[in-house]
Amino acid sequence: MVLLIGCMPLAAQKQNDNVVQKVQKALAAAQVPTPLQEKILADIKSNPEPFIESVKGVLAQDSYLWKLVDKTHGLDQTYEPEDLITLKNGSYLLNRSGLQLRKEAAQALETMAKAARVDGVTLVVSSCYRSYDYQKQVYERNVKIMGQAAADRESAKPGHSQHQLGLAVDFGSIDDSFAKTAQSRWLIKNAWRYGWSLSYPEHLEQVTGYRWESWHYRYVGLELSKFIRTYFDDIQQYALAFLYYYAAGQP
Ligand code: DAL
Ligand code: ZN
Repeated sequence: MVLLIGCMPLAAQKQNDNVVQKVQKALAAAQVPTPLQEKILADIKSNPEPFIESVKGVLAQDSYLWKLVDKTHGLDQTYEPEDLITLKNGSYLLNRSGLQLRKEAAQALETMAKAARVDGVTLVVSSCYRSYDYQKQVYERNVKIMGQAAADRESAKPGHSQHQLGLAVDFGSIDDSFAKTAQSRWLIKNAWRYGWSLSYPEHLEQVTGYRWESWHYRYVGLELSKFIRTYFDDIQQYALAFLYYYAAGQP
């Protein structure tokens, strides 16, 4: 005999409850704001499948695509991606030579830049992969120029930069004037369609640890860029922190 609660068999109901509980725990651990937690939980309570399938799809990818790298979660000093390639001017323009990205990110950048060109926008690429040692130089230079407090608002300590993943790009001028450009307007609207996500949005310094960087995008893959947008109000930090705790809770 199958026991039914409403229309759902008891076993299925129990499984749903377990999933909802696991999601709830991970959302809380990730310090996702309560209204956003409630929105997600309300969404998945009756039918967790779309959310869970999306999470499974994301976690099945290369784990560096969804790896949380922030002020408190770092990369080994020795971590260097194996598939870095040196970029050449393509549908985008390079601000300098020798810029490198991981292969998948480079391909996604070209695809995105091609689409931008069709819309009359040329993306200019100014900074990409940075090794641990290079990030150390960048950070130390920033501390020297602006003092540690100001540097810490916009420059990651070595081992804590998304640039070490070979998946992040700084576009254009790498300063606040970028926000007013056609490139920035185009990226805000379209980057997610190509698997890219703005890492440090405006008004979220308390959440991301960094002031607004209109120029810094991370390649996370299409599955994850859609997930961030659909469930997490397009805030990468919340989604990556959620995935970090959700994956850690896996048996
Ligand atoms: N500007 C970002 C936070 C970095 O240094 O990686
Ligand atoms: Zn950057």
